[in-house]
Amino acid sequence: MRIQDLVKRELLPIKRPVHGGQGWKISGVEDFSHNLNPYGPPAALPQLVMEAVDQLDHYPDDTSAHFRQAVASLHHVDPENVIAGAGSAELIRLYPEVFISRKARVIIPRPTFSEYSHACRMQGANIMDVPLCEGEGFRLDMNAILEKLPLSKAVYVCNPNNPTGTVEPRRRMLELIEECERAGKLFFLDETLLDLVEGHENISCMSEVKNHSNLFVISSLTKSFAIPGMRVGYGVGSRESVDMMDRARLSWNLGVIEQYVGSRLLKEHMGHVQRAAEMMARERGRIKKAIDGTGLFSPLSDQAFFFFTRVNNVRLNAVDVMEHLLPRKVLVRDCTTFGRPCDKFVRFSIKTPEKNDMLINAIEETAQEIRSTAFGARMHV
Ligand SMILES: Cc1ncc(COP(=O)(O)O)c(C=O)c1O
Repeated sequence: MRIQDLVKRELLPIKRPVHGGQGWKISGVEDFSHNLNPYGPPAALPQLVMEAVDQLDHYPDDTSAHFRQAVASLHHVDPENVIAGAGSAELIRLYPEVFISRKARVIIPRPTFSEYSHACRMQGANIMDVPLCEGEGFRLDMNAILEKLPLSKAVYVCNPNNPTGTVEPRRRMLELIEECERAGKLFFLDETLLDLVEGHENISCMSEVKNHSNLFVISSLTKSFAIPGMRVGYGVGSRESVDMMDRARLSWNLGVIEQYVGSRLLKEHMGHVQRAAEMMARERGRIKKAIDGTGLFSPLSDQAFFFFTRVNNVRLNAVDVMEHLLPRKVLVRDCTTFGRPCDKFVRFSIKTPEKNDMLINAIEETAQEIRSTAFGARMHV
């Protein structure tokens, strides 16, 4: 019996998505390849986890009522606008299960987080290729999206975008959401990385779900509270879309600990996230100046709390630079798996000042080392 003959056809060409944040597997390395709050989880976390342990002898509340209430209060929406997810990853999977049928076309500007196309392709959807504008800091190509809109069912946008770090202003997002609404198209917006951007309140479109029934926005506590080991995320949308997704949702998707800790963090510890966002915004300029000075990469952007930059050397790819940095105990994300042109790009996060010094030193040393070898002769600076 050949399993390949029995499996759903859509699955055959699909590979598992690849993610950064693997540094914990390599001892002694500082992991700049993930985008987590550099202060780590709030000090209260172990206590909060312990407070929920007593309740492990019963099933979790299948409706995640307290957690959804905490999300609703934070984003000025109703609990009926909120669905809980085991990380925002669960909602990325659930959304096309509910809305995207076989052969439907979806617009996913690239490069971006690989889970959207993975989840859509699992449903047999076709991805419409719309490259981001590299020359404009990887902004959305509005004209290209609008041109393809009539043939599509949904548009996906990640803001800030992973891996590019580009932050689109709310005004631009709303224009696109409204265009989609007029054309009867769905709009899936991923704001998982937004809480750590200074001034995120003026960028988020979360509360706009009240005005735009085609809009569904996801976020999670993973990055904001540096708790990837707990799976706590949420989506916010119109009551109707949340109701439809809730019908298909996995039962008990959030555990007792996730629901309890998630609610308490959102209610009491948002200051921890805010302090990290402010610190990273302060550090960004200093890092940019130092690393731009090495000439190893194209000039760093001054937008998000992580950098995405091209290796400034015709002979070296992202993986080469990553391998130069690793012996210096610094892990950056080689972006090759995001597809071309990302094989020339690395991504690294902003951390606390001391750790950022370590990053800067490692990059300065690497630039010197490369300059002194044959590769250096081809460096663009
Ligand atoms: C843009 C973006 N969205 C969603 C996720 C999924 O995160 P989680 O499921 O932990 O919320 C990630 C994780 O890397 C991400 O980068």
